[in-house]
Amino acid sequence: MRFSDEFLYNLRQNNPIEQVMSSYVTLKKQGRNYACVCPFHADKNPSCIVYTDTASYYCFGCHAGGDVITFIREIENVDFNEAVKILADRVGMIMPEDGGTDGTKAYKKARLLEMNRTAANFYYSVLTSKSGIKGQMYFQSRGIKPETVKKYGLGYAPDKWSALRDYMNSKKFSDSELIEAKLCVMSQKGTVYDMFRDRVIFPILDVSRNVIAFGGRIIDGSGPKYLNSPETYVFNKGKNLFSFNFAKKAKPEKIILAEGYMDVVALNQAGFENAVATLGTALTLDQASLIAKNASKKEVIVSYDSDEAGRAAAQRAIKIFAQADPDVSVSILNIEGAKDPDEYIKKFGAQRFRLLLDSSENAMEFELKKCKDGLDLSKEADKAKYLKKVLYVLAEIPSPIDREVYISKIADEQDVGKEVLRSQVARLMKSREKSEKDLKWSGITARTVNHFSDDVNPDAKKYPKEDKAERGILAYLFDSPERLDEILKKVPPDKFVTAFNKKVYSAFAKKAKNTEHFSISVFADEFSNEEMGKISEIIAKSRDITITDEVVEDYIRVVLSHDDGIGDDENISDDDFLKMVEKMKKNR
Ligand code: CTP
Ligand code: MN
Repeated sequence: MRFSDEFLYNLRQNNPIEQVMSSYVTLKKQGRNYACVCPFHADKNPSCIVYTDTASYYCFGCHAGGDVITFIREIENVDFNEAVKILADRVGMIMPEDGGTDGTKAYKKARLLEMNRTAANFYYSVLTSKSGIKGQMYFQSRGIKPETVKKYGLGYAPDKWSALRDYMNSKKFSDSELIEAKLCVMSQKGTVYDMFRDRVIFPILDVSRNVIAFGGRIIDGSGPKYLNSPETYVFNKGKNLFSFNFAKKAKPEKIILAEGYMDVVALNQAGFENAVATLGTALTLDQASLIAKNASKKEVIVSYDSDEAGRAAAQRAIKIFAQADPDVSVSILNIEGAKDPDEYIKKFGAQRFRLLLDSSENAMEFELKKCKDGLDLSKEADKAKYLKKVLYVLAEIPSPIDREVYISKIADEQDVGKEVLRSQVARLMKSREKSEKDLKWSGITARTVNHFSDDVNPDAKKYPKEDKAERGILAYLFDSPERLDEILKKVPPDKFVTAFNKKVYSAFAKKAKNTEHFSISVFADEFSNEEMGKISEIIAKSRDITITDEVVEDYIRVVLSHDDGIGDDENISDDDFLKMVEKMKKNR
């Protein structure tokens, strides 16, 4: 069940962390804070600090950390909901109605869906009426035909504060229902106003054709390009996909995963019913499984934007598909001459797009090609760099047969000995295994292993400099969330280099804007205990240093000037590797 921000805020207010923790451990006052012997590892000295100002804890010994809910989850070994229940009971708070009996649950769901359906009809009828001329012109300018508008039930939200609200009120939906459905928002002064204004509307449907949410695209002016419905009782962003209702019905052999709503609508209009997109968030495991399961040949074509961000997202998608379903075969579409599938079809036509689909590259080839980025392979030094990067890709191939295929291919292509590649890959794989084992047997209990920071952010090892800068930026923002917009402009989340820091930064960007009471707790429902520990660490470790504006600028520079080379902490230097390659050549 999902709790409202307000409920969780009150819950935390009523359960000061030092009070809750003191029933499990002995706290010693230490300035404004408290210290205790950490209950999560065999601790002798008090290494766990409880910060009253941020209502969080962090152990410098085992890296456990988080807010009061994380603490209960860890110490009682329960999940998020159970931890909330324990804390609510502790102070006699009544748990919010989770829909009560099945009857009321079903009623609530039906009512939300009815509201969404009514709102979708409203937006559609506005679009197709005189007052929707702005929206019509927009879709026309994007090459969307009227029949496509109808098929998707696209709409237009008028440039008024209360157009939908008035209409819905006239249909006997109350303000509080509208707020719950996230169709309207209440201002701080208590005025209720429309969530979507002066935007074209993309209704999001589930497979039963229920309208579960909306995406609204800006037409002109300022503000975020898209506004998406927040999650509701009927809308889970990570479990649904845009246009999946059409894709599923088409019983396709392959499914095309695009980045944007616009891409999917354009693809569909061009005859590709098998296109879907995520709902304003990165691909989840659930979505990946859903896609894999519904492509009868188990083939997925990732067709993201051709820019840097799109390529990076495609790489992440590959990994998620592999995790979701080991049998799925993923290819990456190489869109050249256009920024995304929508533009490609407009420029070159549907026929050419179909050809492009047929020539889409296998994911491994894509990864290998990416290793060449920014390198000039006619230079020996670059070639060595390339081969070193390739080693890392090869070492990650789980199947020995596949691995051998690519080792041979690279060896032929680059005119180096197969043996040298094979032995280097083996060495790399072994050293990985070893470092995993070392971690397991280094005398700490299995439970604390999870807290190991490198587990949470493995990229940190590869990019120590960038990791440090990113953590600095995050720590600075925790302290001064009001600077967020400014920092976001300088360094958007997709510029962050290490995956975990990037995730925290993105969540921060999302949450800080939507939360009145910003604290580390806003992450508690989205991040695991281990991740919460890492976030606490970032904050705890920056407490005693003042991060000035200049220092932040420096951090930003470090992040922005990152090049995608491999870090400097390799176990083999460029020179050594080059020498080795040369030697193998001579010996052949
Ligand atoms: N997105 C979002 N919020 C934003 C920007 C993007 O939720 N502020 C999501 C939307 O789901 C969007 C997708 O990311 O569809 C891809 O973004 P983008 O490529 O910018 O949008 P398109 O849908 O391709 O729109 P357009 O072609 O009009 O630029
Ligand atoms: Mn796009």
